[in-house]
Amino acid sequence: MAETYKKIALVTGGSRGIGKAVALRLAAEGAFVVVNYARNESAAQDVVAEIEKAGGKGAVSKFDVSDYETTQKMIEEIIVEHGGIHILINNAGIVHDTLLVRMNKEDWDKVISTNLNGVFNCTKAVTRTMMKQRWGRIINLTSVVGEMGNAGQTNYAASKAGIIGFTKAAAREMAPRSITVNAISPGFILTDINDSLSDEIKKQYIERIPMGRYGSPEDIAGVVAFLTSEEASYITGEVIRVNGGIYT
Ligand SMILES: NC(=O)c1ccc[n+]([C@@H]2O[C@H](COP(=O)([O-])OP(=O)(O)OC[C@H]3O[C@@H](n4cnc5c(N)ncnc54)[C@H](OP(=O)(O)O)[C@@H]3O)[C@@H](O)[C@H]2O)c1
Repeated sequence: MAETYKKIALVTGGSRGIGKAVALRLAAEGAFVVVNYARNESAAQDVVAEIEKAGGKGAVSKFDVSDYETTQKMIEEIIVEHGGIHILINNAGIVHDTLLVRMNKEDWDKVISTNLNGVFNCTKAVTRTMMKQRWGRIINLTSVVGEMGNAGQTNYAASKAGIIGFTKAAAREMAPRSITVNAISPGFILTDINDSLSDEIKKQYIERIPMGRYGSPEDIAGVVAFLTSEEASYITGEVIRVNGGIYT
């Protein structure tokens, strides 16, 4: 498999939303794509079926990125089975929104351990392999909320701001081995993650976006395709904003 497909890509949370669009795009670019998910197996299988229908190749892999031991084990299995990992997209993420005055420790821990610890857990699991390969692309999904803050999202904002610091430090460590580490910072992209927002709040958000519309998962996938290409080999430690101008 590794001989046929130039690059092996792992997309965490690849079963829905942004991760799904990224998985489809990377497969269209010729990568063998491993679609990770936590709960919804049929959604992940559907993504692989869509990849295969379009002439690509992929597989599913179930693990919870917040679980350190399981993540190390499952990623090692992917590396052994497919002969390496060249592209890691740390995309899995959740929200647990509430005002700080009402936020409990569980709300805080759940979001930090999925969004921030998850990035550490997955990146840690691919580091040695990418260093041996002397080539790698790691892209971490941060958020406009990590850059500008948002009431009701102290846990989410902290996790996403943490990802930016992680990205910059990891980029410095891994640059000598031709591994780039970058972050993409989306604004408001219409996916399930925004389901809990009322129509009124959605309308208010759109009014604040200079482009006057939500972004699409494909808007993010296009930037991933660029950052994983050879053309982006001298870009590392960057945060690329894809937000319709809401925060510049
Ligand atoms: N949408 C936006 O407006 C927006 C803006 C800025 C940043 N982002 C970031 O972009 C990323 C993707 O967001 P999205 O809107 O596409 O989210 P989404 O539609 O809610 O999809 C989340 C994905 O993550 C997976 N996932 C959740 N918890 C997981 C865990 N513990 N381990 C492994 N997989 C897990 C889900 O799989 P299961 O269904 O199997 O649980 C699903 O595939 C997130 O990091 C998010 O913070 C999104």
